[in-house]
Amino acid sequence: MRLVILGASGAGKGTQAKALASHFGLRHISTGDVLREEIKKDSIVCRALKRLMDRGDLIPDEIMLSIVEVILSEENNFILDGFPRTFSQALALNAICERLGAPIDAAVDIHVPDEKILQRLTGRTVCPSCTAMFHKEYFPPKVTGVCDKCGGGLIQRPDDTAETVQHRLKLYHKLTEPIADLYRRQGILISVDGTGEANQITQDLIKALEERF
Ligand code: AP5
Ligand code: MG
Repeated sequence: MRLVILGASGAGKGTQAKALASHFGLRHISTGDVLREEIKKDSIVCRALKRLMDRGDLIPDEIMLSIVEVILSEENNFILDGFPRTFSQALALNAICERLGAPIDAAVDIHVPDEKILQRLTGRTVCPSCTAMFHKEYFPPKVTGVCDKCGGGLIQRPDDTAETVQHRLKLYHKLTEPIADLYRRQGILISVDGTGEANQITQDLIKALEERF
């Protein structure tokens, strides 16, 4: 099964992608996580990428496409989280999948209003070692500041300040939100309200995907 998961920053793409990947046995490919892992290396190129990410700007399409093409050539069952993010990434993804003879089966689009996104992202902490995420109110870790899964120290992402979140949302509405229409026209879009309880959203998505396949 090949899925993409769409939605604004903080809509719960990572939360749902991890749960769906575990249920259906898919590889969870988060382009944000791939980049964050890469920028741990302290090269000049990585520092330039980090600067763009920390201020909430997008990495140029050509770079993202080369990264995703390499990953997808090695993987047939996946859920893509954070890609595509621009119309040209979406068209290029279709072209890559066509070339590999492995089309995208469904695109999940998670809807959450901007006011709620701000609350979610400014309260989020993440584990840089294993990528688990928490929220001080909605999903607090058992021990404050410590990852439940691997025991690593939790941090706030540099792009989760109120000002940067507003900028990321602006880019989302302008560049990413219109992509859903492409998948709607292909007849593979599944839209979901992302404001409910996370486990319930997962159950609803599993049901919708199982009905489809
Ligand atoms: P990326 O890491 O993909 O960030 P994002 O899209 O902004 O999304 P987030 O990871 O912030 O949110 P999420 O939707 O995964 O929500 P989560 O599940 O964590 O990208 C980062 C940067 O990398 C980009 O800005 C860009 O620079 C670059 N980049 C990446 N891909 C790129 C591409 N294709 N092209 C160009 N540049 C690219 O949930 C958020 C919080 O809410 C958590 O605390 C969670 O616990 C909580 N939560 C989740 N669900 C619920 C719920 N139902 N109820 C209550 N709380 C919830
Ligand atoms: Mg994420």
